[in-house]
Amino acid sequence: ENVGEELPRAPVVTVMGHVDHGKTSLLDYIRKTRVAAGESGGITQHIGAYHVETANGMVTFLDTPGHAAFTAMRARGAQSTDVVILVVAADDGVMPQTEEAIQHAKAAGVPIVVAINKIDKEAADPDRVTSELSAKDVVPESWGGDTQFVQVSAHTGQGIDALLDAVLLQAEVLELKSVVDARARGVVVESSLDRGRGSVSTVLVQTGTLRKGDIVLAGECFGKVRALLDETGEQVQSAGPSIPVQILGLDGTPTAGDDFIVVESERKAREVAEFRKEKARQNELAHQQA
Ligand code: GTP
Ligand code: NA
Ligand code: MG
Repeated sequence: ENVGEELPRAPVVTVMGHVDHGKTSLLDYIRKTRVAAGESGGITQHIGAYHVETANGMVTFLDTPGHAAFTAMRARGAQSTDVVILVVAADDGVMPQTEEAIQHAKAAGVPIVVAINKIDKEAADPDRVTSELSAKDVVPESWGGDTQFVQVSAHTGQGIDALLDAVLLQAEVLELKSVVDARARGVVVESSLDRGRGSVSTVLVQTGTLRKGDIVLAGECFGKVRALLDETGEQVQSAGPSIPVQILGLDGTPTAGDDFIVVESERKAREVAEFRKEKARQNELAHQQA
C-alpha cells in the first residue's frame, strides 16, 4: 500500500478530575458554544467525542465519563489521548480522584493541562489549588514547573479560550502528526444498538482517512460503512486523523477501546472477526473452568 506523508493533526483531549469538579459542565460548555450546528441546523449530540475549531487550530475532545473510558481504553492498549485536562474545583482543591487522574496521566505519559474550575465562586481559592497540585508534582511554569494552569468557569465561560490555547500550545510541543492518505485505523469510543439504524459506533480516526463504503474490522465486529455522521448528525463522506465520527453498518457493537482498521475485503474482515469471537469464547470457557 502506498502511504502518504505525515501531516499535523489535532490533539485529542480527555477531561479528568474529581467528582463534581465540573468535567461534564466544561465539556458541555465547549460543545454548546464551539461546535457549529450542522447544515440542517441540527443541534449537537452526545456521540462520545467532538471536535472544535479555534483561531489557533482544532481540538478533539473525548466526551465519555472520564476515568472509566480512559482506563478501559488503556487496558485494551489504546493510546487515544494526547493531552489530559485535569479539572480541579477552585473551592474544593485536590481530592482523591484528582490524585488518581494525575497517576493515570503520568503512567500513560500523557501531559496535563490544569483547569482550575468554578473560578466564579466566592469561595474560589486558586492559590491553594496550585500549591496542593504542586505538592503532587504538578507544578505551574511560574513556579518552575512545566504544567500550564488556566483558571476557568464552566458556567460563565471565563478562561475557556485560554484553556483551548493552552491545549494547543501543549500539542505543539508534542508535534502530533499522522498520515492522511492511507487506509484508516483508530479506536472505538463507544457503540450501541439503535432501533432504527442498527449498530451505531463512534470511532476516532487516528491515522489515514475513513470513507463511506470502507470495510471496517473493529474488535470482534465488521461491516461496510453505510454512513458517516459528525457530531451535529450531519452525513460526511470521510474523516481524517483526530476526527471522531459515528459509523453505521457494523454487524455488532464493538467495545470502547477496541482498535478498528479498514481492510481490503469483507471476506477477510469476516474471517478475522469470527476468529476473534471464537478466541473470546474459548477464553471465556477457560475462565469458567479455572
Ligand atoms: P461527575 O461526572 O459526577 O464526576 O461530576 P462532574 O465533574 O462532571 O461535574 P459536573 O459538571 O456535573 O458539575 C458538578 C456541579 O458543579 C454542578 O452543579 C455544576 O453546575 C457545578 N459547576 C460546574 N462547573 C462550575 C463552574 O464553573 N462554576 C460554578 N459555580 N459551578 C459549576
Ligand atoms: Na456531577
Ligand atoms: Mg460528569
